[in-house]
Amino acid sequence: MSNEIQAQRAFWNSEADAFQRIYTHRKSKFSNTLDQIFRKDMYERYQFTIANCEPIKGRTFLDVGCGNALYSLELARKGAGKVVGIDIAEVMIGLCRQASDAENLSDICTFIQTDLLEYNPDQKFDVSFGIGLFDYIKNPLPVLTKMREVSTDKAIMAFPRLYTWRAPVRKVRLGIKGCDVYFYSAARINQLMKDAGFSRHELTKVGKLYCVVAYP
Ligand SMILES: C[S@@+](CC[C@H](N)C(=O)[O-])C[C@H]1O[C@@H](n2cnc3c(N)ncnc32)[C@H](O)[C@@H]1O
Repeated sequence: MSNEIQAQRAFWNSEADAFQRIYTHRKSKFSNTLDQIFRKDMYERYQFTIANCEPIKGRTFLDVGCGNALYSLELARKGAGKVVGIDIAEVMIGLCRQASDAENLSDICTFIQTDLLEYNPDQKFDVSFGIGLFDYIKNPLPVLTKMREVSTDKAIMAFPRLYTWRAPVRKVRLGIKGCDVYFYSAARINQLMKDAGFSRHELTKVGKLYCVVAYP
């Protein structure tokens, strides 16, 4: 693993519990209200991604940077044939395995601690997706290229927008915690999609994000 990935891994191992609390609302009323205001697009990107994974029944999915498996588990509940979640942070992978065991979804879901660039699956997936991932990747092109290579139908990604008031605030807030964060213009995303070899893509503004569906 590169130094950059090692730093991200250490950060997400230490933040795993706090991240889980955003989704489970295990926070004070005040913090939950702040999340509803400032993290609205986390909920919107979730709706966007699950809707764009349809049809789900029987299909295969790769969740890149799966975090605590929010997306993987929902796809399994909705009848996916197979879901593989990968993440560099072993604490996140532990949470994923616990949660899928608790819901008896471990026949469908597999969670692996790895960087996508080191992961070589035996078979391609119908859909790969990377949500809340490109915020933390300095050089996204190899990751996007690999997502294209391992997907047969589509790849779905979310990118934080460059020109928002929130971008500098996050840069400083996460920078203090030792986590580098990156932002994207629509023009850069369009170029990245071309360079990664996708045949076409659709870019949608979702709050302070761009959500992209790209076709191999
Ligand atoms: C903000 S969380 C998002 C989790 C999940 N996708 C979600 O939206 O709920 C980012 C996750 O990406 C993982 N990550 C960061 N860089 C990665 C990389 N190069 N390869 C795989 N996972 C990575 C982190 O460990 C972390 O769990």
